Amino acid sequence: MDDMVGASPAICGVFDKISKVAATEMPVLLTGETGTGKELTAQAIHARSVRKLGPFVPINCAAIPETLLESELFGHERGAFTGAVQQRKGKLEAAGGGTLFLDEVGDLLPSLQVKLLRFLQEGTFQRVGGQETLHVDTRVIAATNVDLKAAIERNRFREDLYYRLGVLHIHLPPLRDRGEDTLLMAMVFLQQAAATTRKAIRGFSAQAIDALLTHGWPGNVRELSNRVRRAVVMSEREEITCQDLDLAGAVFQAIDSLDSLRAAHRRIETELLVKALTLHRGNLSRIARDLKVSRSTLYRKLKQYGLEKFTLTFTPPLAATNATRKPSGMLGPAKNGSRMPKESSVGASLEAASQVP
Ligand SMILES: Nc1ncnc2c1ncn2[C@@H]1O[C@H](COP(=O)(O)OP(=O)(O)OP(=O)(O)O)[C@@H](O)[C@H]1O
Ligand SMILES: [Mg+2]
Repeated sequence: MDDMVGASPAICGVFDKISKVAATEMPVLLTGETGTGKELTAQAIHARSVRKLGPFVPINCAAIPETLLESELFGHERGAFTGAVQQRKGKLEAAGGGTLFLDEVGDLLPSLQVKLLRFLQEGTFQRVGGQETLHVDTRVIAATNVDLKAAIERNRFREDLYYRLGVLHIHLPPLRDRGEDTLLMAMVFLQQAAATTRKAIRGFSAQAIDALLTHGWPGNVRELSNRVRRAVVMSEREEITCQDLDLAGAVFQAIDSLDSLRAAHRRIETELLVKALTLHRGNLSRIARDLKVSRSTLYRKLKQYGLEKFTLTFTPPLAATNATRKPSGMLGPAKNGSRMPKESSVGASLEAASQVP
């Protein structure tokens, strides 16, 4: 999970499940819209499992022609079909001692679904054109962004395979349901891209932050990552704008549902904290000043919402230089440490928000 960014309750639930399923040997089914992080999650499960030193072998069932998929997956014997001049092991065997990541499992042909089910039940399979029953110690993690239940109703997916695969099920929430994570991720992607392009970009404009928070993200994390990385390449200023992100400025959104007072309070506080973390790149003193709270109150709030890892701690000023900055979070040090961000403001007081019960 080291590469996975997120602090929202929705993604913390996913992190928790990753740790739990990584400790088992059972198959896992990952569902979620495109770009929500299914492959990254499969890698995280593998990397935390006892198989971590074994191979992680991905295969995309939708990207391989149907006629080749069986041999790709299960291998073939010499002479099994025209062109099979020698015996070849499939991905299932290549993943022995490790994990096979079966992407787009909903596209598997019925005949291959039967073979996969047999492997999951008995741990055995046959290569194409082979008579011998073979065993291999491979864990299967499958993923899909189609509704498998609907596919079962249309007789396109076997119900028994669905239940076998889906004993352990992790659903990756869409980005629009992860609240403040959008900004946290945008911040991380910006810092990574700024470091690789060696550009001195200090953050997002206030309008860009609003646009990031209001866009619907149909392509989820992949779309966010692509937009931010492209914006960093295109930007000629020290601040990423809506234009750089190719996003329209925020439009006023009508309130269409009522929050409880407590939920609204939590949402507003988290949003303010994340905005301030983004604007001030994790600098606690500046955030505290901007939000008009003491550093201890600020730290308590950051801890309460699981955001403390996104702050920067400062070593005592030995030589009064910014080069002594040390990161404590996953954001890493600002690459242009000698350039302090210009004064910007979230323009709100956390104390005022805290009056709400
Ligand atoms: N929590 C996260 N933190 C950081 N990066 C993420 C996170 N989730 C996804 N990504 C990044 O977003 C991109 C898309 O992720 P991934 O390929 O795992 O999605 P997917 O669900 O498999 O998408 P698809 O259904 O289109 O195959 C990748 O570049 C991945 O590194
Ligand atoms: Mg994928």
